[in-house]
Amino acid sequence: MNLQVRLRSLPREAVEEGHFELREGPVPNLAAGEVLIRNHFLSLDPYMRKRLADAVAGRVPFGPGDLMMGRTVGEVIESRDARFRPGEHVLGWGGWQQYSAEPAAKLEKVVDAGGMPLSVHLGVLGRPGITAWLGVVHVAAVRHGECFVVSSAAGAVGSLAGQMARHLGARVVGIAGGRAKCDAVTGELGFHGCVDYKSAGFEQALRDATPKGVEVCFENVGAAVLDATLGRMNENGRVAVCGLLGQYHSGAPYAFRNFPRVLDRALRVTGFRIDGNTDLHERARADLRAWLEGGVFRSWETVSQGLEAAPAAFVSMLEGRGRGKTLVRLA
Ligand SMILES: NC(=O)c1ccc[n+]([C@@H]2O[C@H](COP(=O)([O-])OP(=O)(O)OC[C@H]3O[C@@H](n4cnc5c(N)ncnc54)[C@H](OP(=O)(O)O)[C@@H]3O)[C@@H](O)[C@H]2O)c1
Repeated sequence: MNLQVRLRSLPREAVEEGHFELREGPVPNLAAGEVLIRNHFLSLDPYMRKRLADAVAGRVPFGPGDLMMGRTVGEVIESRDARFRPGEHVLGWGGWQQYSAEPAAKLEKVVDAGGMPLSVHLGVLGRPGITAWLGVVHVAAVRHGECFVVSSAAGAVGSLAGQMARHLGARVVGIAGGRAKCDAVTGELGFHGCVDYKSAGFEQALRDATPKGVEVCFENVGAAVLDATLGRMNENGRVAVCGLLGQYHSGAPYAFRNFPRVLDRALRVTGFRIDGNTDLHERARADLRAWLEGGVFRSWETVSQGLEAAPAAFVSMLEGRGRGKTLVRLA
């Protein structure tokens, strides 16, 4: 049998476990050109929240009864494509289910990471790592001695972006939710500072943590968090807009107070997407692999056990209770 998590109803406000339901179905049959995969790990990501909000607003066709989408890594069980053989490990878009039948053309073979766990291909060597690399190395081109601020600093992308910038010689300040998370970001990841955006004195604390201003903002959250960092940007600073996860659930407009600084300080504001820079992925992976093997990164993971745990793990991630990459172990 194939266990799946499907949407029960669309969330109008906060996402709750009750918006999802577990269903059992048969293991899918293969069509020509497809591969049957037993998924080992499922990645849970903020874009899934955006997808739900877009569905509520009628911007995407997604609704009750549909399978939840998601990046997965797993093992080939059966193949109707000559490029893949049973036993090989592959990355795909299997969704929230134990077994997926996927078109071979959309699968990526896992290149062995020196005996590292498969989950690393959904984290440091996967989309979060490549996204962080694109923002730090390609978009912002961080230089030695610069002040680098990253929001959602304890998250999958943010924790890696900050460690990369520190490795490249920047003075790194994170922004994260809660004192305990901030202490872990400085104590365990080696950031030079970390500011709690949930505290009453957030803006003053950010000023104190960035006494000479900021050259690079790596933005994951948006709205008031981005606004505060914009207010600290120096002449010719760079803002790499990676994500706006603080705005995904409401979609409500935000009136920026510090936007004039984009003009006053001649800032370069650049949005980027991992899927728009595929020509750079191999270079990114090579750096990431070398840095991982060289011990440059600590790779945080929050792993839940079993597909049944996926809805609670997703809610927990949205509420900021995890750190690093949020995963569900399926096998
Ligand atoms: N451009 C691209 O191609 C690309 C690719 C991948 C991801 N992204 C984007 O990168 C960003 C980070 O993604 P990720 O996968 O690493 O996720 P993540 O940062 O691990 O997301 C989970 C964390 O988000 C924080 N959070 C949740 N709601 C928040 C809110 N309202 N305000 C501030 N923080 C909130 C929580 O941390 P706290 O406890 O600190 O609140 C939570 O632990 C997202 O915006 C995502 O959409 C972009």
